[in-house]
Amino acid sequence: MMAPGNVSETMPEHVIDVHNLTRRFGDQMAVNGVTFSVRRGEVFAFLGPNGSGKSTTIRMLCGILLPTSGEGHVLGFDIVRQSEQIKQHIGYMSQRFALYEDLSVWENLEFYAGVYNVPRGQRRARLEELIAMAGLEGRKRQLAGQLSGGWKQRLALGCAIVHRPPLLFLDEPTAGVDPVSRRHFWMMIHGLAHQGITVFVTTHYLDEAEHANRVAMIYNGVLRALAPPAELRRSALQGQLLNVTRPSLRRRCWRACRASTTSRSTATTSTRWWTARTGSRSRSVGPWKGPASPSTRSRPFRRPWRMSSSASSAAGATGGR
Ligand SMILES: Nc1ncnc2c1ncn2[C@@H]1O[C@H](COP(=O)(O)OP(=O)(O)OP(=O)(O)O)[C@@H](O)[C@H]1O
Ligand SMILES: [Mg+2]
Repeated sequence: MMAPGNVSETMPEHVIDVHNLTRRFGDQMAVNGVTFSVRRGEVFAFLGPNGSGKSTTIRMLCGILLPTSGEGHVLGFDIVRQSEQIKQHIGYMSQRFALYEDLSVWENLEFYAGVYNVPRGQRRARLEELIAMAGLEGRKRQLAGQLSGGWKQRLALGCAIVHRPPLLFLDEPTAGVDPVSRRHFWMMIHGLAHQGITVFVTTHYLDEAEHANRVAMIYNGVLRALAPPAELRRSALQGQLLNVTRPSLRRRCWRACRASTTSRSTATTSTRWWTARTGSRSRSVGPWKGPASPSTRSRPFRRPWRMSSSASSAAGATGGR
């Protein structure tokens, strides 16, 4: 196992490299021929709606799940033949909490420090560092089960990086937490990236993915686009992303988007609701649901990332980043 703090000098430039990665569950193609690579030090967002294959991809990359076909390397280790080495060298925060609810904040961190063999002499200092990073001072003795969702996420992040992994996988780390906690969490992610840790993070939120260096969009197991956020907005989204910060404006924004017959726009709100317009007949409010099947008339999103500018200033939306 990699000693804490010792980021391998032999680490390849591409810490993740996969080709035609595929995973079936019976007849279901969960991940379908995905090819991409992630550079060292990047914050890489994997954006997709429910059931699009995000967690399945992460689980294959973490060496937890074998691919049906395709190949890949993580930190230079083969995802099929060297899964144990991968597990020892990465940090992984799963979609479901991996915390022990009947242990305190400190005890949870101590437990993970033991699992990852953080040298005893370094544990106390490392745990204090993580407590400070997560803003959990004053909560050390609190049971994890008594923490709110946002605090649990921070603690789970601390547990995932207790051994200073060079590569961190976060599976929807901000699902269900409020906008302020989400912002704080992203500040922590960037702090880690600043320390040289590569972060692979999945999300449903378009606005959140914009914090990443590059964004991969996945739908129905297929990679639809991969680019830096600004480029994605220009090419794949073809337009402007609006961030509506006031919930009371959500409805007005949606109406304005709907009323317009010529413009196409996307609006997101800090409370995860977003409204999209993809043509004259558009509606729907909610997190990204991906493109609707052309045969499904009732589903409004034909291609949600093909959205252009001229968004409704009348709706009081704030400009996209
Ligand atoms: N162990 C499994 N057995 C059978 N089907 C599975 C299994 N795991 C995932 N699937 C299916 O594979 C598809 C992709 O699932 P996955 O969990 O990767 O999606 P996701 O993008 O992470 O979704 P969410 O945003 O809801 O977490 C889904 O249709 C899911 O039902
Ligand atoms: Mg998932």
